Amino acid sequence: MKTEVKIINNVEESVDDIKRAAECIKSGGTVVFPTETVYGLGADALNENAVKKIFIAKGRPQDNPLIIHVASKNVEKYAQDVPKVAEKLMDKFWPGPLTILFNKKPIVPDITSAGLSTIGIRMPEDKLALKLIEFSETAIAAPSANISGRPSPTDIYRCIEDLNEKVDFIIGGNESNVGLESTIIDCTVTPPCVLRPGGITLEMLREVDPEVYIDAAIMKKPSEDIKPKAPGMKYRHYAPKAKVSIVEGSLEKSVEKINEIVQNYIEKGFQVGIMATEETKNLYKQGNIISLGSRNNIEEVAKNLFETLRKFDDSAVDYIISEAFTEDGMGLAIMNRLRKAAGFDIIKA
Ligand code: TXA
Ligand code: MG
Repeated sequence: MKTEVKIINNVEESVDDIKRAAECIKSGGTVVFPTETVYGLGADALNENAVKKIFIAKGRPQDNPLIIHVASKNVEKYAQDVPKVAEKLMDKFWPGPLTILFNKKPIVPDITSAGLSTIGIRMPEDKLALKLIEFSETAIAAPSANISGRPSPTDIYRCIEDLNEKVDFIIGGNESNVGLESTIIDCTVTPPCVLRPGGITLEMLREVDPEVYIDAAIMKKPSEDIKPKAPGMKYRHYAPKAKVSIVEGSLEKSVEKINEIVQNYIEKGFQVGIMATEETKNLYKQGNIISLGSRNNIEEVAKNLFETLRKFDDSAVDYIISEAFTEDGMGLAIMNRLRKAAGFDIIKA
């Protein structure tokens, strides 16, 4: 399949290109587009055949539902009922990195929701994404634009790497600002439950409803009795090719432990990547060291996480050792993605 790639530097000046991408969505094609969280691989959410193409391009399991993207807060076309709390959440956080689960209307085909009776809806903030949805005159179903299981892409070149010749159109230019996928909150239950932590933090959600709680399964290794409520959270995910481990403990002890582990691997002839921070990067003696940013700017760490995992893939390291982070604010989303990337391999410092 031939993929048309359009690099956009200025959304206002590129309306014609965005309209062409929208035509592609309208005619049942697949379009990779930017959002403020990560890039998405989109198709007309109401067109079964088009949605099927998303699953094929990504190699995504059929039982993993898609999020649909809208350009306004009028979700009545797709949602059976809109609880008061969902209205408040939309008012406060849309457009933005928050996906809300509603009971779905029959207009949304089963393939989009993977047979579930609920549907995740999100209004992204990215200007290009909003224009694309508007011009498409439909809702756009879009998972992250990576091959299933790989770290989500936060710039267009990573999308090209994964999906060139597998989709009809790739459009974008800017880097995703948040860098981790949207927070998912289930508003079909009372109180609402967070199924995936992300850009809108638990603390922010509790300002709207203090009762909001987190699906306990998401920070644990999935097993027979612990199943996450978001089907996608059960897969090994966000994973680079190298084996990832996380070292938890005080920063000083963690650095010491990481130096020891790295020394061990290097003696055995392996290449090792270290996910460090501005505060620690000079304390490592050897290995391929990449700083995720400052610990005082946890948003920056989040933004750089997936791209750093991909950089380690580029340099073909055998092992990646990461420092751990706070679980406050965005830290919860960072640790959730890191633990999944590591297959829950955690070493105590
Ligand atoms: O930020 C994002 O949400 C990005 C951008 C492109 O918008 N999209 C994204 O989609 O991360 P995806 O497909 O990579 O992740 C969607 C997650 C999966 O874990 C899926 O199982 C869960 O959302 N999900 C979707 N619909 C659901 C539903 N009805 N019930 C429970 N979980 C759902
Ligand atoms: Mg994904």
